[in-house]
Amino acid sequence: MPWLDWLSLFVRWFHVIAGVAWIGASFYFIWLDNSLETPPDWKKQKGIKGDLWAVHGGGFYEVGKYAYGPESMPENLHWFKWEAYSTWLSGFALLVIVYYFAAAAYLIDPSVMAMSETEAIIRGLSLLAGGVLVYELACRSPLANYPKVFALALTALLVVASYLATQWFSGRGAYIHVGALIGSIMVANVLLNIMPAQRKMVAAVAAKQPVDPAWGAGAKLRSVHNNYLTLPILFIMISNHYPMTYQHPQNWLVLVAIMALSAWIRHFFNLRHLGRSSPGVLISGALGLLLVALWVSWPQVQPAAQPTISAENTGNTATASHPEPAMTALDKQVYALITRHCQGCHAANPTDEIFKVAPLGVKFDSWEQITRQAPQLVHRTTVTRDMPFLNKTNMTDAERDIIAKWGQQQ
Ligand code: HEC
Repeated sequence: MPWLDWLSLFVRWFHVIAGVAWIGASFYFIWLDNSLETPPDWKKQKGIKGDLWAVHGGGFYEVGKYAYGPESMPENLHWFKWEAYSTWLSGFALLVIVYYFAAAAYLIDPSVMAMSETEAIIRGLSLLAGGVLVYELACRSPLANYPKVFALALTALLVVASYLATQWFSGRGAYIHVGALIGSIMVANVLLNIMPAQRKMVAAVAAKQPVDPAWGAGAKLRSVHNNYLTLPILFIMISNHYPMTYQHPQNWLVLVAIMALSAWIRHFFNLRHLGRSSPGVLISGALGLLLVALWVSWPQVQPAAQPTISAENTGNTATASHPEPAMTALDKQVYALITRHCQGCHAANPTDEIFKVAPLGVKFDSWEQITRQAPQLVHRTTVTRDMPFLNKTNMTDAERDIIAKWGQQQ
């Protein structure tokens, strides 16, 4: 467990750094492309179709974009591909470390769909592979000639993926799989289309052959898709901290709404770089997000929680819907401790005055939920000892020892 936590920390840290470099470069180049101006004649004669000036870090920069390619190959050409590859590789590693190594705790929620860990992992990987395949086929079909229709098709693909994922997995697991699918589509665009097109262009310039504008145009379409996917994917990557989104009964719709609205807000910035100010796009996007927040968190009367076993009744070994194996005396002690120290926050309907939704979606209402998440539960109470949160319920060392002893038997 501890080594897995360290591995998770280093890989996650690296993933964030690589992601900042990738999306940062993406933002920069989209801005650059949209901000190009008509160059003076002497530059046009060299084949430059747009140029711009910038000042940054105490110096002036002059950038020019060629309509096709330079007359001869520069000695040093920068490519910007490892930002994308390393973000995906570290992201996939993180998916395996967090969600597949501990699938029972993070990926499977029996109240959504009961399944074995192997089945959950197969479903997760199939969702990713299937989604990328459908997208690739669509890109290679005549649909790609109609960018607006294609945008709708891409949206439909993400709606279907969001719906399927939330019908299969825990809220967190579902959201992260949609994020991983978007990330995989984005990196597949770089690997399978943008890079090959650029290699052809570079080879043509080196061989002093004409550059086919179709190569760049195809790559440009993919690059535009990636651009609109940047804000949605960044939301998903931080959504883990906001259980009110992924724990909502219509969590797939919450996800779809936030993805669509954030892509719409990205549109505002794209128009702005082109010199077109459309505050209506930004305002309607922000209002839409506000409406989503109101819809998700509008106070409503919640049905009372129905724990499978009540604290007073732990002696009873079975309930009608969930037969439990006989609980030992130690089990009952642990159950009572969790009821007292954890359920205030980690329940379907928390009673805590601050945490109104179970933090990270972790619930300990039933014995089944407790045993399924035993490794994390024991780790956070007896090793890192950061639970109960800020030791709000004053859990004693003796009580932690009881949980540690129980943990050894799990
Ligand atoms: C006052 C509210 C509160 C109480 C009480 C509480 N927790 Fe938590 N718990 C949290 C919060 C908040 C987080 C999320 C922390 C974070 O984002 O890292 C959390 C996270 C966790 C996690 C991590 C889940 C994950 O996926 O990383 C575990 C496991 C956990 N709690 C177990 C417990 C146990 C066991 C108890 C009782 C001994 C307990 N908690 C009591 C608020 C609480």
